[in-house]
Amino acid sequence: MYEQFGKEFWEERYRGHTAVWSGRPNPQLVAEVGELGPGAALDAGCGEGADAIWLASRGWRVTAVDFATAALHRAREHAETLGADAVNRIDWVQADLTGWAPPEERFDLVSAHYVHLSASREALFRRLAAAVAPGGTLLIVGHHPSDLQTTMPRPAVPELFFTAEQVAAGLDPDRWDIVVAEARARSATDPHGHEVAIHDAVLRARRRP
Ligand SMILES: C[S@@+](CC[C@H](N)C(=O)[O-])C[C@H]1O[C@@H](n2cnc3c(N)ncnc32)[C@H](O)[C@@H]1O
Repeated sequence: MYEQFGKEFWEERYRGHTAVWSGRPNPQLVAEVGELGPGAALDAGCGEGADAIWLASRGWRVTAVDFATAALHRAREHAETLGADAVNRIDWVQADLTGWAPPEERFDLVSAHYVHLSASREALFRRLAAAVAPGGTLLIVGHHPSDLQTTMPRPAVPELFFTAEQVAAGLDPDRWDIVVAEARARSATDPHGHEVAIHDAVLRARRRP
């Protein structure tokens, strides 16, 4: 299925810079997962691995998936700077999420941050939800559509963006409790150096045991 920002786009982006992201875990991951006890986690679209590394350093066993080999290479290098215990808790997987099916009901946490697909988004989120074990947590975070009205650089392709409510609507209410579904504000600095209020679409749901 055609996606505008495919593997080549991302490989190029990662090859062109020393580090694309901050190296810090995403704030919504820290906010939502900080109090959960460790288990098995899937980080879908892991990029340079900051979330996976943060989870592993807190005792999670992590499967971290991305299709960009340049990102995974950098993530592995970054992880090497940790103790062997944490490194050995991360399994880096190079795969295209539009075709890759994670094992069903396997993970206590399935997290995807800023993976913006259009045509294949719903199917991907369905597969990610199916990978959550009973009692486990699904955390999907994206740039909220309202960011398109700000000065933060976002691709002018509205169908890439989603709300937490849209993600929640794809979950069977008999099997899921919605814990958080909101547009959460945070501040960021735009390319002109101005502080901007942006929003994350944050969906956290718990699969019923
Ligand atoms: C905006 S980055 C976010 C990276 C990371 N989650 C973070 O928050 O720092 C999106 C990531 O998703 C990956 N990605 C996009 N489409 C993908 C696909 N179809 N299969 C696997 N990875 C994909 C990209 O390579 C990129 O690393």
